Amino acid sequence: MPHREREPAMYADYLREMFPELDPVVDDLFLLEAHQIAQLPARAPREELGIVLYAHPQLARFLATRYPQIEPFLAEILEGRKVGDVTRAEDAVVWQLADLIVYQRAPALYDEKVPRLWSRAALEEAEPLEGKVVIDSGAGTGQVSFAVAPIVATVFAVEPVATLRAHITTKARDMGLANVFVLDGVLDAIPLPEDSVDILLTRNAIGWDLTAELVEIERVVRPGGIALHLAGMPYPAEEGAPHHALLLADGYQERPYEDGGVQNRKYYKQIQGIT
Ligand SMILES: C[S@@+](CC[C@H](N)C(=O)[O-])C[C@H]1O[C@@H](n2cnc3c(N)ncnc32)[C@H](O)[C@@H]1O
Repeated sequence: MPHREREPAMYADYLREMFPELDPVVDDLFLLEAHQIAQLPARAPREELGIVLYAHPQLARFLATRYPQIEPFLAEILEGRKVGDVTRAEDAVVWQLADLIVYQRAPALYDEKVPRLWSRAALEEAEPLEGKVVIDSGAGTGQVSFAVAPIVATVFAVEPVATLRAHITTKARDMGLANVFVLDGVLDAIPLPEDSVDILLTRNAIGWDLTAELVEIERVVRPGGIALHLAGMPYPAEEGAPHHALLLADGYQERPYEDGGVQNRKYYKQIQGIT
């Protein structure tokens, strides 16, 4: 559920509905990793964050220590800070960032609540999976990795959040799956060599830096291999779909599919290789 596709307040409401038992608090923000803190300028409600940082100077210090590049942003919002209700501001900030808090605090809850809007058929229609070497990038709790692991030769679950990687590793061991390898990485910096995989999959996990990600996909997928991005949740008109125009310009084909009675979309490309 990438936040970038929704209005901030709507996204917070969506998260409140999805995780009513989460009860996020300001202390949870001390769990954020550097790459998550980097998202704050795009994600956090500015006015409320200013109020929260003023009330909790230790949090401002923590964020700047863990991710020093955030310092000018923090200074700017503290300087422009308005006076306001601290409890209300805290509530707005933590709910707007609640997906990041769930990743850190409760991977099993994420696993349980996130709708599984994708089908194996949606994957296999693009390419037979048997015997293939696959990346599941932005693997989250590993839902896609675990779905393809019994069919493919190897799946590399690439995921930047440490608690989620631990969750996948434990689950793979419990399921007796020896072909799931969990890697720390992001879509624009995948820790695998050139031309090393047959298929790269994402589900609801693309677009932090789409231009760089598309270059990295071309590097890591062998010529003739496949990149396939599943939206993971239903979207209305295609022009409203995130990254639609950029993906099409890069040579992807859009292929709608139906999953559990819901219209969904995926983007598919056969990698040509650099000539
Ligand atoms: C909305 S979740 C989707 C998880 C999983 N693919 C699923 O469908 O359940 C997005 C995932 O991408 C990860 N992520 C964050 N930044 C990323 C990046 N730059 N590249 C790849 N994955 C990233 C997040 O930690 C999170 O696990």
